[in-house]
Amino acid sequence: MTDGKAFLRGLDLKARTFAPAARATVEANDELCSWLLDPLARWAQAAYGDRAFEDAAKGYAHYCMGVWKSQQQYEKIGRYTPEAMQELVSEVYEQEGYMVPYMWAAILIYPFWPSMINHIALYRDEFLKALPPDARLLELASGHGVMGLLAAETRPDIQVTGFDISPPAVAVSNRLRGVSGNEHRVTFEVRNALKLNLGESRGTYQGIIAAMLAEHLEDPRPLFEVIAHHLADDGFVFFSTALESAQRDHTFEFHHESEPLKMAEEVGLRVTRLVCDSGSPLPGGRFLPRALGMILRRR
Ligand SMILES: C[S@@+](CC[C@H](N)C(=O)[O-])C[C@H]1O[C@@H](n2cnc3c(N)ncnc32)[C@H](O)[C@@H]1O
Repeated sequence: MTDGKAFLRGLDLKARTFAPAARATVEANDELCSWLLDPLARWAQAAYGDRAFEDAAKGYAHYCMGVWKSQQQYEKIGRYTPEAMQELVSEVYEQEGYMVPYMWAAILIYPFWPSMINHIALYRDEFLKALPPDARLLELASGHGVMGLLAAETRPDIQVTGFDISPPAVAVSNRLRGVSGNEHRVTFEVRNALKLNLGESRGTYQGIIAAMLAEHLEDPRPLFEVIAHHLADDGFVFFSTALESAQRDHTFEFHHESEPLKMAEEVGLRVTRLVCDSGSPLPGGRFLPRALGMILRRR
């Protein structure tokens, strides 16, 4: 039966330069990484066949090169230099040729990048396991859908509703969902997370995921308002974002861990856990790329 190691074999074949570091991270965190990669490999194989692993490797390599180039440019210019949002939507989020490889990379960085490993632990052990029985879960920027699908796999009592602005990303998530065995408890639809109707009833969701979305927005404050509006009194939020980490579609530049934390507090949420680990800075660089994850609750 296919297991998560198939993704590492894909790297050996199609992205050899990136294989040793990814393998070292997976081997050092075997149990956590298998929790994510084993079901993902099953779904990927069933949805896309054997080519999934080589396609994923190519997507991952292309993404890592893009990140490296963007970070070099960031060091030179001293700030993010994003395209206009309208252009990002038409050139990135609506482009299947761009989004599908990107979505493989977006999920593979969790088990392959040391800075993301703590996010898997935080998500599984302090978010999913803490959700009240029969929780309704809202995923904002569901992308590839794997976070929501892992939620359904881990918690057979919960329902997941995911939204993403990108039609090709939603197509990927629905393809994985269709073979996941949990299709009756999970939905993914194309919707802008910032345009969810705040007139809809408040406090409907006991769990909200907003993973690696805030840095893609021109202003993340409205995202915190959406989260605060939809969160039930006994609910938990899994929030994550990138700091000083340039990418083609990163538009909002966080420098300090206190910035997203304050934005959460401003809408009446409290931070009950925070993890933040750095990636590799460029030698002599002035910026330190980091990935921050938080659990939020109502005050
Ligand atoms: C880096 S991916 C993160 C995917 C997934 N949440 C994860 O943690 O791997 C960023 C995602 O945000 C989505 N996105 C960007 N702006 C959005 C918006 N306003 N509403 C919903 N989704 C958005 C993109 O389409 C993309 O799928």
